[in-house]
Amino acid sequence: MYRVVTPQTEAELEAYYQLRWQLLRKPWQQPLGSERDEFDEYAHHRMMVDNNGNLVAVGRLYVSGDEAQIRFMAVVPDCRDQGLGTRMVQALEQVARQLGVRRLVMNAREEAVPFYGRCGFTVVGEGPISFGKIPHRQMIKALTSIHQIRHRPELCDELQRQWHRRIPISEKMGIKIIQYTGSRFKTKGNLTANLNMHESMFAGSIYSQCALTGWGLIWMQMQEFGLSGDIVQGSGDIKFMTPVWDEPTAEVQGRLRERLMPLQAGERVRIELNVTLYSGEQKAASFTGRYVILPH
Ligand SMILES: CC(C)(COP(=O)(O)OP(=O)(O)OC[C@H]1O[C@@H](n2cnc3c(N)ncnc32)[C@H](O)[C@@H]1OP(=O)(O)O)[C@@H](O)C(=O)NCCC(=O)NCCS
Repeated sequence: MYRVVTPQTEAELEAYYQLRWQLLRKPWQQPLGSERDEFDEYAHHRMMVDNNGNLVAVGRLYVSGDEAQIRFMAVVPDCRDQGLGTRMVQALEQVARQLGVRRLVMNAREEAVPFYGRCGFTVVGEGPISFGKIPHRQMIKALTSIHQIRHRPELCDELQRQWHRRIPISEKMGIKIIQYTGSRFKTKGNLTANLNMHESMFAGSIYSQCALTGWGLIWMQMQEFGLSGDIVQGSGDIKFMTPVWDEPTAEVQGRLRERLMPLQAGERVRIELNVTLYSGEQKAASFTGRYVILPH
């Protein structure tokens, strides 16, 4: 088990800078002290520790108005490729969101570009070349799209990235999470990407958006309550009421905590959810999805 913590004491800060130097400066024969800069005093520092208190990762966020820079990110070699780097980026991003940041920027080492790409960053240009030999790329991530989300926006962001990565058609359909309040979960689709020959939304896309929206609510609440399991759809019925000519939004509501709890005891859970899809303001489809959550 690893935890993201803020270095507080002198000793913790020393250990934090020491790891920064060891991972990011020492391999390039840079002296002690080169791992710090003039923004450290005002920046947000995070580190990751294991169960025994050993430091395994570091990362820094420097906020300037509605923009923030991620810098000095590193994970010890033995702990890489286990998702710790991703968790560190998420932790820094969460701080940024809480402070009203709208855009994250960074200079990523060339070999770390795919990693940041998976974290939602896009390359926008060339960056500096450190120590005369490490080329960087400038990368940015806009935080505006889920900025309006009231509850756990970082989880919504994570879910949206998972959907786009693991269910590529959801990206083609333009499905985006637009609200989560802890009980209400809402997505929107891109009408133009889902048109049928009548210039309204394809029925299969309506079904998919509804099914994914119900699935999403369950996933969000499982994450919130620290539960794990595979969510599969057992069956689903849909009633189409009117053609979807306008932006499709799908909405589902539920507080699932009690119903999900048997997962903790390794029991399978069944949940039925009603999802409504709107065409603009008008109710256009009503979907009932029956999901089964299989404990890991
Ligand atoms: C870049 C760096 C911070 C990433 O940290 P990390 O802990 O390895 O990151 P993650 O484990 O979250 O992701 C790394 C890869 O492992 C994969 N991965 C994530 N979780 C995984 C898991 N549970 N099991 C297997 N693989 C996993 C990811 O898909 C990712 O692949 P990608 O590189 O193609 O995107 C780390 O490699 C590092 O410290 N590098 C040296 C310093 C550096 O370059 N810092 C960045 C300066 S800009």
